[in-house]
Amino acid sequence: MRKKIVAGNWKMNKNYTDGLSLFSEVLNMVKDEVRGQQQVIVCAPFIHLHSLTALAKGHAQLSVGAQNMHQEASGAYTGEISGEMLASVGVQHVILGHSERRQYFGETDALLAKKVDAALGNGLAPIFCIGETLTEREGGSHFDVVKKQLADGTFHLSADDFKKLVIAYEPVWAIGTGLTATDEQAQEIHAFIRKQIAEKYGEAVADETSILYGGSCNPKNAGGLFAQADIDGGLIGGASLKSRDFVDIAKTYN
Ligand code: G3P
Repeated sequence: MRKKIVAGNWKMNKNYTDGLSLFSEVLNMVKDEVRGQQQVIVCAPFIHLHSLTALAKGHAQLSVGAQNMHQEASGAYTGEISGEMLASVGVQHVILGHSERRQYFGETDALLAKKVDAALGNGLAPIFCIGETLTEREGGSHFDVVKKQLADGTFHLSADDFKKLVIAYEPVWAIGTGLTATDEQAQEIHAFIRKQIAEKYGEAVADETSILYGGSCNPKNAGGLFAQADIDGGLIGGASLKSRDFVDIAKTYN
């Protein structure tokens, strides 16, 4: 049975004290209210990571992720953070290929393939993001776009390494817009993604891969989305900044 995962992406939000209080609220709610086997992950800005992994120690159902990392091991890359640094403070996951990194920082599929290798090399599980823009969907090229992002970013991996990935489908037109993909739209492309994985690595690997949905997911629409056969949870932006909403989304899997 593949893992059900609800991951929060705080993006560039929460100063040190606000982040600590938000995470503490989430931790207490997860301990008291989350009943299933779902994994809850908080992907916070770098300044929070060490404090949050320390708070989460001993509570395996809640773990901490990062939102980016550099592809090199170390060196003259001012302002950057390496995979080894993330692992050294107890981080378990790292979001790679988010559309905002692709759009604002010019991250290409080739660069992301290197970041995936560096993350795996440091024992981190990438949450690898793919998704089309509104123009691409309206033009009917969304399947081709998602297929290329997935293949060029991850299909160089062995089956054993690919199995360590979490895939997140995030239609760019649904991110931060309040315009969520319908259950049917999301299921259609999640099934397509799973089919691509099966064709590359076989049915067993495809069946074990968690594919998350991201894009204006909230407590009201999570039930319908997470009920879809090929949706295994969510990558949550805005709603992860409110402990009640984020944990209510996680409780969908209770
Ligand atoms: O990575 C998750 C994020 O892109 C989704 O954002 O605010 O639409 O839930 P939001």
